[in-house]
Amino acid sequence: MARLSDKIAPSILSADFAKLGEEVDNVLASGAEIVHFDVMDNHYVPNLTIGPLVCDALRKHGVTAEIDVHMMVKPVDRIIPDFAKAGATYITFHPEASEHIDRSLQLIRSEGCKSGLVFNPATPLSHLDYVLDKVDMILLMSVNPGFGGQSFIPATMDKLRACRKLIDDSGLDIRLEIDGGVKVDNIAEIKAAGADTFVAGSGIFGFPEDGDANRYDTIVGKMLAELAKV
Ligand code: DX5
Ligand code: ZN
Repeated sequence: MARLSDKIAPSILSADFAKLGEEVDNVLASGAEIVHFDVMDNHYVPNLTIGPLVCDALRKHGVTAEIDVHMMVKPVDRIIPDFAKAGATYITFHPEASEHIDRSLQLIRSEGCKSGLVFNPATPLSHLDYVLDKVDMILLMSVNPGFGGQSFIPATMDKLRACRKLIDDSGLDIRLEIDGGVKVDNIAEIKAAGADTFVAGSGIFGFPEDGDANRYDTIVGKMLAELAKV
């Protein structure tokens, strides 16, 4: 199985919510390809963000790019169909948040979306043992979930290498996404360890360049240039 193409997935958690549609349009025009959509419930994680209404609003605004819904909510099953109807492409969840992981993965696919499991820094990859054929994406958290702007946890590099091997050995078409503390200065090393999908929130939305034709051209361009080196 050939390695999947690199994709940058800006986390809109760090965007300006007062003009979200414009922010998403701009960041996609800069060369980023996936909209990373962080859903937090003040229960599974100690923060509260956005839900299906906002996903639906982005679709109605005209966003056609893939929307990668990262659910940091517990439980997960009740809200999955709502995100599918709202236009999610990927729906991922944390194994600790579902009583029946296999059922939740099947539910996501049955709703017509791509499915994924998310691993916190201390969560072992063994949750994948019997469900690898039911995931389209594996998301490794390189920070503890709940907030943008945290520092990359270095032990994630070994976990990325282990996960890369797991995917390659399986021959399955699974994206390997990394989320948390991804910046221009570590993205190449993260790719070398095995990731193909790179979430960046503060690393992108924290660096708008007013002189650019598009506010995010410079920062996304720098990330793509780093990826091209590996
Ligand atoms: C954290 C979220 C991340 C976060 C990443 O729980 O899942 O997607 O927004 O933010 P940065 O890139 O700032 O670490
Ligand atoms: Zn996320």
